[in-house]
Amino acid sequence: MKLIATLLLASWVGLVQAQIEDLDAHTGKLHSLQGDTPLQLNKDAERLKDPVKDQGIQDRQYIHQPPLVPHQIRGYEVDLKVNRCLACHGWRNAASRNAPRVSPTHFETRDGMTLGDISPRRYFCLQCHVPQTDAKPLVENTFTPVESLR
Ligand code: HEC
Ligand code: HEC
Repeated sequence: MKLIATLLLASWVGLVQAQIEDLDAHTGKLHSLQGDTPLQLNKDAERLKDPVKDQGIQDRQYIHQPPLVPHQIRGYEVDLKVNRCLACHGWRNAASRNAPRVSPTHFETRDGMTLGDISPRRYFCLQCHVPQTDAKPLVENTFTPVESLR
């Protein structure tokens, strides 16, 4: 009983703290993505950021990290019928396109069976692999990779 009460109190304190961090230090008002735009109006959309082009293979930060996409992907369609990513990264074409092949994990089902073609759970590449822009980070990130990857 005591443990549950402590846990509840801890999560409540956490919640309140999270809310306080959303308050503007000067005005005491809540921050929101809407900024100063009144609620009944739509804020202008942010400008699309320029993708970083051809920056070369990026270092990985942890062992099972999906590598970052180091090139533009504009126009690379992925739907039920076509997958442009596989046109370069599939095992058939990778060598002739000078592109890295998808690794064997991309053929595995969640029950550990290896299929003859890309596994459905690895079909939509951009679920895991993300292209980069030179945008300012939204929040500070102090993550450091494990020793062996530094
Ligand atoms: C026209 C061929 C081509 C297409 C299409 C293509 N890529 Fe690539 N991709 C490459 C090449 C070449 C590299 C290696 C870049 C280098 O060595 O600088 C690469 C690198 C990558 C890497 C980095 C791999 C690593 O080991 O770090 C990822 C991830 C990736 N591509 C994902 C994608 C995704 C997702 C798509 C589809 C949205 C895609 N690519 C479409 C040619 C392509
Ligand atoms: C569910 C997440 C996920 C999806 C979806 C996915 N990948 Fe990956 N990919 C990973 C992870 C994690 C790694 C690194 C570890 C590994 O090889 O499994 C990786 C590694 C890679 C590599 C580097 C291979 C190597 O040997 O270093 C390439 C290239 C790649 N993926 C391309 C693709 C392409 C193209 C697609 C779409 C057809 C895709 N991935 C879909 C998670 C994913």
